[in-house]
Amino acid sequence: MNPQKKEIIQKTADFIEQKFKGEGTGHDWQHIYRVWKSAELIAKTEDCDSYIVSLGALLHDIADHKFYDGDLLEGSRQSKKWLEDAGADQETIDKVADIVKRVSYKGAGVKDEMPSIEGQIVQDADRLDAIGAIGIARAFAYGGSKHRLLYDAEETYEMHANFDAYHKSESSTIAHFYEKLLLLKDRMHTASAKKIAKERHHVMENFLEQFYAEWEGKR
Ligand code: ADP
Ligand code: NI
Repeated sequence: MNPQKKEIIQKTADFIEQKFKGEGTGHDWQHIYRVWKSAELIAKTEDCDSYIVSLGALLHDIADHKFYDGDLLEGSRQSKKWLEDAGADQETIDKVADIVKRVSYKGAGVKDEMPSIEGQIVQDADRLDAIGAIGIARAFAYGGSKHRLLYDAEETYEMHANFDAYHKSESSTIAHFYEKLLLLKDRMHTASAKKIAKERHHVMENFLEQFYAEWEGKR
């Protein structure tokens, strides 16, 4: 990669690190850093433009619509503005802004379309960070921030991919596994993410089995 591109990636990383330091909503710099690094790894296994992948990963959570009154375009607007200031070319700006727009949108009834391979890689990396051991930790951290119960034995779980409901639901954190986390392994685009997701899915299944056993005082 040419030095100018490398510099724009580094500038973007510094900017996002500053912006997200200390953010406790699950969109902290540590999450973005992990997504960036695993997107880079996946990018090595695909025929793609790793410059776009890196910028997309770094900017993917820049303005989550949940915090902007549901304004779906805020993220792509902010990405565009940043990349212009950073001196990126127009084609890069457009491609990255499109990824940011699509990755953040999870409204009900809208198919998650991610046409570019670069966007698919960013989405895979973002989803990988929601599953496995780290995904479990993030779910309970999020649940705690919303004062949710760990688990509610009265709840019944049905696997459903209602991406609108899960943010609004007042259910326990364990419910979130069935609402979202256990569904993610089947939503990966790339072969390498599918492989990692399979392993991380097992980690969650084993965790749930142990959790229920301990809940019942059986182990
Ligand atoms: P992203 O866009 O990075 O997937 P989300 O805003 O969907 O982020 O979620 C951020 C983190 O918080 C993820 O790890 C997700 O699983 C977790 N999370 C979101 N909603 C819930 C919930 N209702 N209960 C527990 N964890 C949640
Ligand atoms: Ni994210």
